[in-house]
Amino acid sequence: MPTDISKIISDAAYQAYERRLLHQVKQAPVPHHVAIIMDGNRRFAREIGLGNVLDGHVKGRDKLEEVLEWCLEVGVRILTVFAFSTENIRRANEEVQHLMHLFAENFRRVGDDERVHRHKIRVSVFGNRELLPPEVIEAIEYAEGRTEQYDQYRFNVAVAYGGREEILRAIRDVVLDAQAGKVDPDDVDEKFFSKRLYTADLPDPDLVLRTSGEERISNFLLWQLAYSELYFVDVYWPGFRKIDFLRALRSYQMRQRRYGE
Ligand code: IPE
Ligand code: MG
Repeated sequence: MPTDISKIISDAAYQAYERRLLHQVKQAPVPHHVAIIMDGNRRFAREIGLGNVLDGHVKGRDKLEEVLEWCLEVGVRILTVFAFSTENIRRANEEVQHLMHLFAENFRRVGDDERVHRHKIRVSVFGNRELLPPEVIEAIEYAEGRTEQYDQYRFNVAVAYGGREEILRAIRDVVLDAQAGKVDPDDVDEKFFSKRLYTADLPDPDLVLRTSGEERISNFLLWQLAYSELYFVDVYWPGFRKIDFLRALRSYQMRQRRYGE
């Protein structure tokens, strides 16, 4: 059938393009730390006509697994994703419950994933755990506990996370230490403050990527992305393709090269 033939041709062209991009990207250093604002799950579900819009989140979860594989393939050592913001908690109860159920399931899955252990990926979760139900906290602790000794790759998931809240928490911490006489105002420089954030032992992201065409940071890693390259792509998160990922890396590499000149 003609449609099958055109599909075969377009698939072949896509794969050839993907291979070429992969080859190009491997010629130069890739960003060490990539952060992603995964956006557009529900719009994706509506666009492809899924009966339940919330199934978009399941597709989003599957995409994240793929993206982790791509990071391993090209050598991105640290991946940090924004999975659920403090604002997202205000969504309809049914959706929040659906997401919490997915998180509980997914963190258990991550903790058991053979690839995580084979590649020695350390999993960490940033955010205000007080806002999460016990089964999610337990699953997070399971994934973190099973991977805490690993040091080859880092996979960080921001859940119930807000950048301003993170900064405020750190400030409260510093004030308490100052009141206890443990901190002098002169000690408080960028390095000192960075150590008080969830990302204390991580370098800042080199590249921050957001899907779905929205060009906002939406309270993600406000302190940490001061100098990061930003890359926005129109596709919805579950529709994010390997070529989109590779293009983002290539764009980062091209910008780095320009600064170097
Ligand atoms: C991103 O997709 C996932 C979460 C924020 C939990 P959305 O749920 O924001 O989907 P859209 O942006 O409404 O399409
Ligand atoms: Mg959204």
